[in-house]
Amino acid sequence: MNLGFLASHNGSNMQAIINACRSGRLTARPVVVISNNRDSGALERARKENIPWFHLSGRTHPDAEDLDREIVDVLLNYDVKLVILAGYMKKIGPVTLATFPGHILNIHPGLLPEYGGQGMYGQRVHEAVLAAGARVTGVTVHVVDGIYDNGPILAQRKITVKKSDTADTLAKRVLAVEHELYVETIDHIIRGEIKLPA
Ligand code: GAR
Repeated sequence: MNLGFLASHNGSNMQAIINACRSGRLTARPVVVISNNRDSGALERARKENIPWFHLSGRTHPDAEDLDREIVDVLLNYDVKLVILAGYMKKIGPVTLATFPGHILNIHPGLLPEYGGQGMYGQRVHEAVLAAGARVTGVTVHVVDGIYDNGPILAQRKITVKKSDTADTLAKRVLAVEHELYVETIDHIIRGEIKLPA
């Protein structure tokens, strides 16, 4: 299965999935990486891994519809079957959604539907979890639809919040679980054990 990645920042989730492809843990090929951030760690990782990469953003394509179409063209050119959002902080456009219905995945550093939605991402999720005094947080892998953090949930894993946790310590523990859960979920999809909505 050909995997295409969209990532904005560090790209550690993407790297975990690439590693799993390289080791044979996943029967999949990382074929292309797209980032809206020219200086992202994700693009640096793509270069190191010899994976074709593209910087596509509001800078390269000021018109949102042009950008959406260009993203689709790149993904189709590389025969991508599953689109993996790995810390991608932009909304997916309607053309991309229509071209890959049910086949765009996202990972969220919290237990959706709580601590999700527009503006709730990355460190902000951990800060909100701590501010609410929650004792449990977690990770969610879900299918992407047109609304932030809204599509069908494929997998979740819970993580206990410690009294001593800060947003940083929590982020670190959550991220380690993200790396495992994303790989496991993609494996289940490839094996047909999780069926994606059409
Ligand atoms: C991850 O924690 C991911 O769950 C989060 O951004 C981080 C990216 O890390 N994504 C979101 O908050 C999306 N709503 P990475 O770049 O090292 O994979």
